[in-house]
Order: sequence, then C-alpha cells, then structure tokens
Amino acid sequence: MSTVLRPSRRRIRTRVAWYWWLMAAVAIGVAVFAVRPYLSFDAALSLIPVNPGQPLHIVWLSLHAITGALALAVGPFQFLPALRRARPGLHRVLGRLYVGAVSTGAVMAFLSALVSTSGPVAQAGLLLLAALWLYSIIRAITAIRTGQIQLHRIWMIRNYCLTFAAVVLRAILGVGALYRVADPDAITFPQVYDIAVWGSFTLMLVIAEWFVVQTILAPLARVRQKQAPA
Ligand code: HEM
Repeated sequence: MSTVLRPSRRRIRTRVAWYWWLMAAVAIGVAVFAVRPYLSFDAALSLIPVNPGQPLHIVWLSLHAITGALALAVGPFQFLPALRRARPGLHRVLGRLYVGAVSTGAVMAFLSALVSTSGPVAQAGLLLLAALWLYSIIRAITAIRTGQIQLHRIWMIRNYCLTFAAVVLRAILGVGALYRVADPDAITFPQVYDIAVWGSFTLMLVIAEWFVVQTILAPLARVRQKQAPA
C-alpha cells in the first residue's frame, strides 16, 4: 500500500512566508527604482522618449509612475491575513490608498499610452492593460461594498497580479537586453518592448487565475464537497 506524504502545515506556512517576503522585496525595490526619474516631473530625466507634441505627457507619465509605484509597494501588505485580522483599520487605510493609487495610475497610464511613442503594438497592449487594471479594481470595490468578501479577494488577486506585471515587464526587458548584447541582429528593441508589454500581463493573468483557484476556489469546492450528500 502506498502512503501519500503531505508537507506539514507549518512547512507550507514557512514556504508561503518566504514567497511573500520575496514578492514584497521585489515589488518595493522595483517601485523605488522605477519612480526616481519621475519625481521631479522633468522630461529630460525620463527613461522613455516623451512625445514632443504633447506637453502634458511628462505630467501624466510622472503621476502614473508615482501612483503605480505606490500601488506596487502597498499591495503586498493587503495579502497578509495576520495584518488583516490584527489591524483591520490599517488594512482599510492601506486599501483606500491602494485603490486611489491604482485608479489614478490607470487613468494616467491610459493617457500616457494614447500619446506614447512606443508604436501601435505596445500602445494597444498598454491601453488594454490600463483598462483591465481599472476594471478589476472597480469589481473589487463593488464586491466589498456589497459584502462579498470572497469575490473581493478574487478581484484583488487579479488586480495586484496586473500591478505586478510592471515588474515582469522590466524582467523581460532585462532578458531582451542581454539577448541583444549576445546577438544584436536577432531582435530589435521595439520587438523586445512589444513582447515585454504583451507577455508580462498575459503571464500575470494566468498566474492570477492559478492563485484564485488554489487559494479561494479549491478550498470552497472542498467545503461544498463535504457538505454535499454522497
Ligand atoms: C499595471 C498597469 C500599468 C499600466 C497599464 C501602465 C502603463 C504605462 C504606460 C502606458 C507607460 C508609458 C510607456 C510607453 O509610452 O512606452 C508606462 C510607463 C511607466 N510605468 Fe507603468 N503601467 C502600469 C503599471 C505600473 C506600475 C505598477 C508601476 C510601478 C513601478 C509603473 C511605473 C511606470 C514607470 C516608472 C514608467 C516610465 C517608464 C520607465 O521609466 O520604465 N507602471 N506605464
């Protein structure tokens, strides 16, 4: 007879804690480094070309970078069950900060994408991402306002995964840059950028659905299974 060995709850909890620390450290690190060139609203410091025909581009881009960085850094704390239970007031304050940051960040992202000089493929991806970012936060707010906590958690997982696409995008750009050092003719920078934009949020949407199933739907399904008559 074969025995199924399951990792103990304690080991699972330790592993989850490690993943949380890793995610939080990467998110805060990227937020701090990404936002720095945009704190002075100076087009000369921007890491991407600013549209010369739209004087407001640097304003939209800077506001987007600041609010996006805030959302990226605050988000991980909203997923700590211990913090939610021990300090519900703090969870609500951080939640409002996160919602304000994502809503402003998404509107500014939309405007920035419209006047972006990155080409139609990247622009289309960025516009879609901005729309999904806003839509998922609206669904999360609507769910919590109507008392649907599980649904709120599902939409927050989706929303933060989209926020985290900003990290994955930069990782793909890094890999693309290394690839271009090894073989500059293999792929152009605009091609790397298009792949990074579409690849980052597609991957994060898949990861979001995996998290939703693992952390919310599967436990609920197990409870229903136990309650269902044989
Ligand atoms: C998830 C939804 C997001 C959308 C739809 C979005 C959209 C955009 C758009 C349209 C641009 C201009 C890109 C171009 O013209 O090529 C941009 C740039 C930028 N975004 Fe986001 N973004 C998102 C999340 C974030 C987050 C969470 C951060 C936090 C770090 C962030 C930080 C920046 C920065 C710093 C830039 C300037 C480019 C650079 O220096 O890398 N964005 N974003």
